[in-house]
Amino acid sequence: MNERDSDSAAALLIAAGHQFTANEDDADIFILNTCSVREQAERKAIGKLGIMKRLKEKKPDMIFGIMGCMAQSRGEELLQSIKHLDFAAGTDQIHMIPELVEDILKERKKSYLGDRTSPDSPGIDSHRFEPGEKQYSAFVSIMRGCSRFCSYCIVPFVRGPERSRDAASIVNECKMLAERGVKEIMLLGQNVAAYGMDNTAPPPPPGVSPFADLLTQINDIEGLCRIRFTSPHPAFFNDRLIQAVAELPKVCKCVHLPLQSGSDPVLKRMNRPYTAEQYLNVIRSLRALVPDITFSTDVIVGFPGETEEDFNATRRVMAEAAYDNAYIFKYSPRKGTKSAKWEDDVPQEIKEERNRILLEDMEQALEKRNRALSGRVFDVLAEGPSKRNPNRWQGRTDTFKNVVFLPPPGVKEGDIIPVKIARTTAMTLYGEIPDGM
Ligand code: 5AD
Ligand code: SF4
Repeated sequence: MNERDSDSAAALLIAAGHQFTANEDDADIFILNTCSVREQAERKAIGKLGIMKRLKEKKPDMIFGIMGCMAQSRGEELLQSIKHLDFAAGTDQIHMIPELVEDILKERKKSYLGDRTSPDSPGIDSHRFEPGEKQYSAFVSIMRGCSRFCSYCIVPFVRGPERSRDAASIVNECKMLAERGVKEIMLLGQNVAAYGMDNTAPPPPPGVSPFADLLTQINDIEGLCRIRFTSPHPAFFNDRLIQAVAELPKVCKCVHLPLQSGSDPVLKRMNRPYTAEQYLNVIRSLRALVPDITFSTDVIVGFPGETEEDFNATRRVMAEAAYDNAYIFKYSPRKGTKSAKWEDDVPQEIKEERNRILLEDMEQALEKRNRALSGRVFDVLAEGPSKRNPNRWQGRTDTFKNVVFLPPPGVKEGDIIPVKIARTTAMTLYGEIPDGM
């Protein structure tokens, strides 16, 4: 989400006559995009703000701004306390950044913009393309904000309520990207499964999913090969969406489905309106229709009051869900949220231990499951040379498994090629182009 927003801001500044540089030292305008979801992310941003002081000392005319969640929630305070900061643009003010920069160039004064605008704020669909370079993958934001108010989460406060974009405008953006050579699109939103049902309580009526309808339209776009999305809320993942994911050929068979906890009492205190059983039923239904489908998840360990029994319930659900990837977060209270009023009573060492156990469980099971894939052939979207060994290439299956292979002559980034798996680990499949291909 933040990467998409940074790209929009860069594209808008380029359209206003500026140039992009990947090198901090060359920049005359530097904008730090910030996240507030966890305390650690905020701490990192504050550290970076400090480092920026040195850059500005070397180049006093440099324009220095922040955008994103921290700009929204703490922009005014940061502008006051950080002398070298010129502007803060809130989460719905990305389209105003070029104007802010122009104003500062004309008249040096600090500016804060934190108003909310419509979801289709100009610029939400702008993309930066490297000149002469083909880009095979792109992010598309389909909605802004979140209205779920999970009791631990700051997002609804900093990003505002759910606002879905108009389907026609999203489809046009995807068509434009496909025409420029994009093969894979990642649809983004805090709660994509509730697309088109802004601010309504789950569950949606059976057979109704505006998000599934949107996927169907995007699936018809010529030139696109793969559609992915993140993140859907399990309580909105109904029969219609399950069917769409299973049946639409371009929709990747990998689903990120945030669990948060496998214990019903904890889920209740988290204000997550589903039980572990209901969550598992979504996974079971998808697996019954698409046996190869893979899942990933987000889990919070050490939520206030999480007992050993609660934690073991999470372990059990995770074992059945059999994830390919899990982002485990140690609970940290966020000011202004409901759970911040409760005692953060799980000691740090226990949070760390629970974190480690969940990752170990997952890796062990995954290694075993991946072993069974040896000998199979998968269509792999080639992403380019592997980081570890540049003689090999790396790519992804449609189930998002990482594949390392010897590149066939003439292969280009974004090509989809068959790879036969020879060897596997928990995180990677190693293979080669099958004979005769
Ligand atoms: N503490 C720890 N993890 C959190 N997340 C959100 N808020 C918190 C918090 N206060 C995690 C959730 C969410 C992911 C993006 O961040 O798991 O899905
Ligand atoms: Fe936060 Fe819950 Fe919304 Fe996700 S669904 S962004 S965890 S409030």
